[in-house]
Amino acid sequence: SVMVRRSVRRRRGWRRVVRVLEELEEGCATPVGRLRQVVDAMAVEMHAGLASEGGSKLKMLLTYVHNLPTGNEKGTYYALDLGGTNFRVLRVQLGGQRSAIIRHDLDRQPIPQNLMTSTSEELFDFIATSLKDFVEREESFSLTSQQERRELGFTFSYPVKQTSTSSGNLIKWTKGFSVEDMVGRDVSECLQQAISQKGLDMRVAVLINDTVGTLALGHYHDEDTVTAVIFGTGTNACYLERADAIIKCQGLITTSGSTVVNLEWGNFWSSHLPRTSYDIDLDADSPNPNDQGFEKMISGMYLGEIVRRVILQMMQESDVLRPFSSKLDVPFILRTQLMAAMHEDDSPNLSEVARILNDTFEIPDVPLNFRKLVVKICDVVTCRAARLAAAGIVGILKKIGRDGSGGIASGKTKGGSQNKMRRTVVAVEGGLYTNYRMFREYLNEAMGQILGEDVAPYVVIRVTEDGSGIGAALLAASHSASSSALDR
Ligand code: GLC
Repeated sequence: SVMVRRSVRRRRGWRRVVRVLEELEEGCATPVGRLRQVVDAMAVEMHAGLASEGGSKLKMLLTYVHNLPTGNEKGTYYALDLGGTNFRVLRVQLGGQRSAIIRHDLDRQPIPQNLMTSTSEELFDFIATSLKDFVEREESFSLTSQQERRELGFTFSYPVKQTSTSSGNLIKWTKGFSVEDMVGRDVSECLQQAISQKGLDMRVAVLINDTVGTLALGHYHDEDTVTAVIFGTGTNACYLERADAIIKCQGLITTSGSTVVNLEWGNFWSSHLPRTSYDIDLDADSPNPNDQGFEKMISGMYLGEIVRRVILQMMQESDVLRPFSSKLDVPFILRTQLMAAMHEDDSPNLSEVARILNDTFEIPDVPLNFRKLVVKICDVVTCRAARLAAAGIVGILKKIGRDGSGGIASGKTKGGSQNKMRRTVVAVEGGLYTNYRMFREYLNEAMGQILGEDVAPYVVIRVTEDGSGIGAALLAASHSASSSALDR
């Protein structure tokens, strides 16, 4: 009878676990109708953010980049990319013809954890030291000696209120960084000071967001590129907007008639977003509650953490996995890379899932039915993320009239102008998209569903490589001291 009681208890426990999964599925549902509401909300918030300062949770930041690289950029430029998990330095040689990036050399290293919460002095001292080492190493190999002052494109992937193409103040940190004395300060000035202190002759020629670098490189390769999106540790997008559409900055006149706007869409919010109790708790426990709501549902920093919270909930509601592992309590212990590996485990008995659960949480011998459940959790969480991301992209296309809602080749719009559907390229970058096949497939599938089969073929998603770095070098070239202001 002890055996019977135990098996009854186990069955009941299993039912609870399945219930948790079903609730998750309901809470994360993203039928196309709901995605369309998110598309509309994104376009509406973009309008609001452009209309007035603080008009929306979307900051719609001016970048002062009015011209994207033409392809004529020439010379050797440096780029420094401080983003999510890694920090990179590049040296890029530009040949002066489109697609003629002769070579670029790259040094990539993880940002030491302690620097992410230190002081700006320590952070920039570390960066300038690495930069100087890199420059000395690279130039010792090169045959030509450096004659002019070196020029640097600085990619700083956090929200910045730009004061020009080469300067701007940090609005707030995202993605787990918190170097508090930096907030409000001029980011380029901090870097320029640290560079000078190291005795390195180098000028910060441009300060840009990673999305802007990606757009620059995307546009360099393909002129139909009008927007760029990052799916990495964080998520964000920028796009080319008409200067006169930026109401909050009246009188912005550019020779091109357009300018690049950084949405900071990680902070997008709408009541149409499918939010679960896990999202609410994750947000409340984060260092930036009520901020970056869209990012917390989509980006690489958070997906694994959502999955951990669901598994923990299952453990707490049942005793199917005794002994209980205390490692399940550790926030952010399940990295999204490992989540992807579990999700894409195609071995018949899900041995990779078992291994990762054991390595990460120290839960040995997870039974097969529970492994399957974990794969399903990963699927639900990533599917929601990817589909919301697709809705975000279509929201931007809608704002600039490229979602086909005005008709494809319908000829005339109300104003009488031609409204032919044009080929539109979306430059995409980031490990979540490039390394997580299921995320990528769900995103592409949702794009097709939202746009419909007539319009979808006109929208091309194109992956750029190292755009956030190479793009910064390209922009440094077109904004360098030697290129004339007229070219801009
Ligand atoms: C975060 C940052 C944003 C950046 C994005 C992708 O959302 O706030 O500036 O572009 O991450 O790296």
